[in-house]
Amino acid sequence: MEDRQESTAPQKEVCSRFKCRLCGVAPFFVGIVVALVFGWWLFPTLMFNSQEQPVQFTHDTHVNVAGLDCNYCHKIRPDGTFSAIPTTKECAVCHQVLLGESRAERVFWDEYVRPGKEVAWLIYQKQPDNVFFSHAPHSLENCNNCHEFSKTELCLFCHVNVKDKAPTYHENRLSGYSKDTMKMWQCERCHANPNHLAGTAANNACFVCHK
Ligand code: HEC
Ligand code: HEC
Ligand code: HEC
Ligand code: HEC
Ligand code: HEC
Ligand code: HEC
Repeated sequence: MEDRQESTAPQKEVCSRFKCRLCGVAPFFVGIVVALVFGWWLFPTLMFNSQEQPVQFTHDTHVNVAGLDCNYCHKIRPDGTFSAIPTTKECAVCHQVLLGESRAERVFWDEYVRPGKEVAWLIYQKQPDNVFFSHAPHSLENCNNCHEFSKTELCLFCHVNVKDKAPTYHENRLSGYSKDTMKMWQCERCHANPNHLAGTAANNACFVCHK
């Protein structure tokens, strides 16, 4: 009898030790899952509101089908200012009449071209008022003094990819700024690199970007 008891005792011990380990570990894993759901999904969802562009304009159609160059719509004027996004009137050079069957073009034509209204485009990248940025020193011409970038490559260093379909716009509910606006550390990736600004007139002093 005594022999038998001795032989089951270690087994019981193993079993309860195993159970106890689970007791400590299970809440830990539940905690991690809750934290991940909150940090990765719930918090960003609550922090940002999402909107679609008022007109479903696609770059693909205009660049690849209509054959337009980026400069047709986004150019640096001779005085160094940037033309940003064309007015409805400039678009209507082509869209005086309906060119196709798409719903998106119909909406653009009915709601903007006919009444002569401007589109309130959602801008993915807009800096706070205390930051000064100009496209002129960041032009293809300037960069290609040292590099060999295509126009699209250049824009993509700093911008979201708008090539196929305009992406969803996310706005921070607290600051009112777009999620895709460049942060200071992203400017500093170039500006704080002495090799990069060597030979240009630019430097990395605070007042260069903060007015
Ligand atoms: C027919 C005019 C037109 C042409 C040509 C054009 N775009 Fe655009 N672009 C727009 C309009 C309208 C918007 C605003 C809607 C949107 O973001 O999709 C825009 C927005 C953008 C934005 C987003 C800016 C921001 O931060 O909100 C980028 C980047 C851009 N274009 C790059 C390009 C590049 C690169 C090319 C050439 C390959 C190009 N565009 C050609 C009209 C044009
Ligand atoms: C050089 C002529 C030209 C200019 C300038 C132009 N478009 Fe278009 N657009 C076209 C053509 C061609 C189509 C394709 C029509 C089709 O077959 O459905 C088109 C299609 C569209 C569509 C339908 C969705 C899509 O993109 O395929 C929208 C919306 C539109 N254009 C808006 C605009 C806006 C806004 C501007 C100004 C920023 C603009 N267009 C400037 C030629 C032009
Ligand atoms: C070095 C970074 C950088 C490069 C390269 C760059 N941009 Fe920008 N872009 C910006 C910043 C920063 C802003 C916001 C400026 C502001 O709000 O004062 C902006 C704003 C814009 C806007 C919105 C303008 C408005 O306020 O309505 C368009 C359109 C745009 N850029 C298109 C382009 C195109 C097209 C190219 C490529 C030819 C390009 N950008 C290259 C950084 C860049
Ligand atoms: C005076 C010459 C010069 C000019 C003008 C210049 N670059 Fe550069 N760039 C360099 C050098 C040198 C490097 C390598 C830096 C290093 O690795 O230390 C570099 C690196 C880069 C890199 C890789 C950076 C990294 O951190 O990995 C990118 C992207 C780039 N340049 C983009 C641009 C753009 C966009 C422009 C225009 C706004 C530009 N460059 C203007 C000289 C230049
Ligand atoms: C190459 C351009 C550039 C330079 C140089 C620069 N900044 Fe900024 N800074 C920015 C941009 C862009 C923003 C806005 C985006 C953001 O909030 O990160 C910003 C935001 C800030 C903010 C707001 C807080 C924050 O991080 O959101 C402070 C404070 C600031 N900068 C301080 C400085 C100081 C101090 C210096 C000099 C040591 C400096 N900056 C140099 C581009 C620059
Ligand atoms: C890809 C690299 C790159 C990025 C990213 C970049 N810059 Fe620059 N920036 C340059 C280069 C290179 C020059 C100098 C061009 C020249 O003079 O040939 C310059 C020049 C400037 C100038 C003019 C300085 C002067 O003294 O003439 C300002 C202002 C500026 N950048 C602001 C910004 C801000 C703000 C951001 C971020 C929103 C930014 N840059 C992001 C590369 C970059």
